[in-house]
Amino acid sequence: MREYYFDNSATSNPKPQCIIEKVQKAIIELNGNPGRSGYKKAIKIDREIYNTRVKIAEFFNIKNPLQIAFTSNASESLNFAIKGAGFHDCHIITSVLEHNSVLRPLHYLEDEKNVTLSFLEPVDTTEELIKNLSSLLRKDTKAIVINHISNVTGYIYDIEAIGNFCKENNLLFIVDTSQSAGFADINVEKQNINILCFTGHKSLFGIQGTGGIYVEEGLVLNPLLEGGTGSFSKLPRQPKTMPELLECGTLNTPGILSLNAGIDFINSVGLNKIREHEYNLAKLFIDKISNLENIIIYGDKDKFRGPVVSINIEGITSSDFAAILNEEFNICTRSGFHCAPLAHKYLGTYDYGCVRFSFGYFNTEEEILYAADAIKEISEYILKEKF
Ligand SMILES: Cc1ncc(COP(=O)(O)O)c(C=O)c1O
Repeated sequence: MREYYFDNSATSNPKPQCIIEKVQKAIIELNGNPGRSGYKKAIKIDREIYNTRVKIAEFFNIKNPLQIAFTSNASESLNFAIKGAGFHDCHIITSVLEHNSVLRPLHYLEDEKNVTLSFLEPVDTTEELIKNLSSLLRKDTKAIVINHISNVTGYIYDIEAIGNFCKENNLLFIVDTSQSAGFADINVEKQNINILCFTGHKSLFGIQGTGGIYVEEGLVLNPLLEGGTGSFSKLPRQPKTMPELLECGTLNTPGILSLNAGIDFINSVGLNKIREHEYNLAKLFIDKISNLENIIIYGDKDKFRGPVVSINIEGITSSDFAAILNEEFNICTRSGFHCAPLAHKYLGTYDYGCVRFSFGYFNTEEEILYAADAIKEISEYILKEKF
């Protein structure tokens, strides 16, 4: 039976053929240790890795590609940012839509570094956003850490407005772009982003085990890890220069090269086209199911959003709903809490979670119609069983 994959927020699937070919090339032709040895192949690998930094820098409008360090995923990047920026005895603003990759490092600061947190809620307009930020701002506020696009509701925070607010109030701006890189326009200069954390295996089409962090020039994080960098070998401690500061141990060459091909793929299709396609799928999905009487759709149905739609059927748990979708219709979704407990508190789904459909570039309208029909069938069955 054909599989219908709607779990692209967890990891994008399938990967474009060019990614598979690039990984294969990395393993077969370029298998050596980058940044360590001086033989021809090692230098070639080094060049490919630098080239990837340059492509990512262009993608996010980062001036100096060497300010980007590769990591294993967004969680690692966010830990480097939040725990490495030296926050203590201060206040940080974040949001109710954060993933645990942001919340847990922030709670660590709360527990260990006397940091107080405030939580911003999603709003309809930029005016309300700034008003709410202003009311949360304190004399000891040092930073805003925000999830650009929610992995539960697809809500998009206006990061340009927040970035300007940070600049005006001298706050560090840390952005989690896990759900937005490869969908939304991200420009660190225009959006005043000081630290940008990204993951490679979602909408950037890289393989799992890839991610990165951009740190604005002049900002030096405390490295959480120390070890071999292939350079500055006589220094007793981790070098203070990027990217070595945050790149400890052998790099994930196949993964980094997959990201290189992922950026090429996005550029060849066009980010606007990808965004339009994914948004249209989400909209079609919402249109098709919003008239079903026992279906609850979370988030604003009419507002522009990321390609993520979370729903419930009244009367059954989200895990049962996802299990039926998978067992009976071979549809892959994610039920439960999506590592975002506060988002579920905010939505009123803290007890039972919800089922998330997340669409990707390779999903088609036909697949959306199939999913909508499946939901209709389940919804009618539940209604019939109830009476
Ligand atoms: C908003 C958000 N932040 C962070 C992460 C963590 O990403 P990774 O698994 O690549 O560390 C995710 C993953 O689902 C996410 O959706």
